[in-house]
Amino acid sequence: MKIAVAKEIDPSEPRVAASPDTVKKFKALGFDVAVEPGAGIKSGLLDTDFSAAGADVAADAAKDADVVIKVKRPEASELGQYRRGALVIAIMDPYGNDAALKTMAEAGVAAFAMELMPRITRAQVMDVLSSQANLAGYRAVIEAAEAFGRAFPMMMTAAGTVPAAKVFIMGVGVAGLQAIATARRLGAIVTATDVRPATKEQVESLGAKFLAVEDEEFRNAQTAGGYAKEMSKEYQAKQAALTAEHIKKQDVVITTALIPGRPAPRLITAEMVKSMRPGSVLVDLAIERGGNVEGARSGETAEVDGVKIVGLPNLAGKVAASASGLYARNLFSFIETLVDKKAKALAVNWDDELVKATALTRDGAVIHPNFQPKA
Ligand code: NAI
Repeated sequence: MKIAVAKEIDPSEPRVAASPDTVKKFKALGFDVAVEPGAGIKSGLLDTDFSAAGADVAADAAKDADVVIKVKRPEASELGQYRRGALVIAIMDPYGNDAALKTMAEAGVAAFAMELMPRITRAQVMDVLSSQANLAGYRAVIEAAEAFGRAFPMMMTAAGTVPAAKVFIMGVGVAGLQAIATARRLGAIVTATDVRPATKEQVESLGAKFLAVEDEEFRNAQTAGGYAKEMSKEYQAKQAALTAEHIKKQDVVITTALIPGRPAPRLITAEMVKSMRPGSVLVDLAIERGGNVEGARSGETAEVDGVKIVGLPNLAGKVAASASGLYARNLFSFIETLVDKKAKALAVNWDDELVKATALTRDGAVIHPNFQPKA
């Protein structure tokens, strides 16, 4: 059996799907490993690092591979190089991308979306949403600190006192929790909000102050899967009023609010942005799903009356070496479950819950129940 590590063709994607460490592990499982030249360079990995770990470095690495691993969903030009029946595993961004799923189905590959991995104990080590969001949350604070014209920590000097920055984190999932921890480490005064009640204790345990409309709807806002529900218009209005008052006094706002399969909720209006002091910074981590902040633009830092709105997509990619290392581990852990270790052969159990949750296409069709073509 052969596994190929593809080089990302999107020039804005610096991550890679394997590391020398996972190459060795794939070899030990019985795989031949082939890596496309230059695949790791933007993550600080040389072709020679991969070959030293036992991989072949070859331009046609994917040609006869049984498994192709990538960071982003393959485009038609890449699919043309894969053999029919190959397993293609990546972060597929399937929601709202029906045409792309159809293209993968027609190419005859079995495509798996790593971000659909169920959040059960067995699959924690395969959870790319967590591994990447954690780094993105960290990086969001670094971006904010870079764009902010003042210091984060309080500094008492002979020349006077510099006050601590006030940082507000909206959305306290994996990214938000790491953002709180990072901002605290930098010495900021941190507040945070979320619609899921379970987050209150988590926020407080990190030394930040929790702020939310804690009504009946809030008490029921968490799904069985641990995610947020889309909130009612009434709740959103109450939340907006609370946010509007708080935000005026903040130096930095970092938004991370997402609802699976839905556009990101709009939490910050243009008016709220205007109410902030010049020099304040917003970082919109939800930008890839439409953004939480009105006026945020993907790939840009917008400026409104001196307030900066940072809208960088793929913040995990800004810590590419760390992000690739963790993503590679997530992939290896999943692929290990697809292999018969004694026979050293692929043996996908299509009834396994991890496979069922992530498999998008197979044998020419889109098979995932959530992405069935509309009749
Ligand atoms: P996410 O990326 O889907 O969303 C980020 C945050 O935005 C969530 O905390 C969500 O509640 C919040 N949000 C949504 N709408 C909002 C609104 N209108 N206002 C304010 N906040 C809003 O979330 P993520 O990071 O994927 O975490 C979701 C849950 O999954 C958490 O409970 C987390 O602890 C849990 N989790 C479980 C794991 C496991 O068991 N293996 C692994 C990682 C996370």
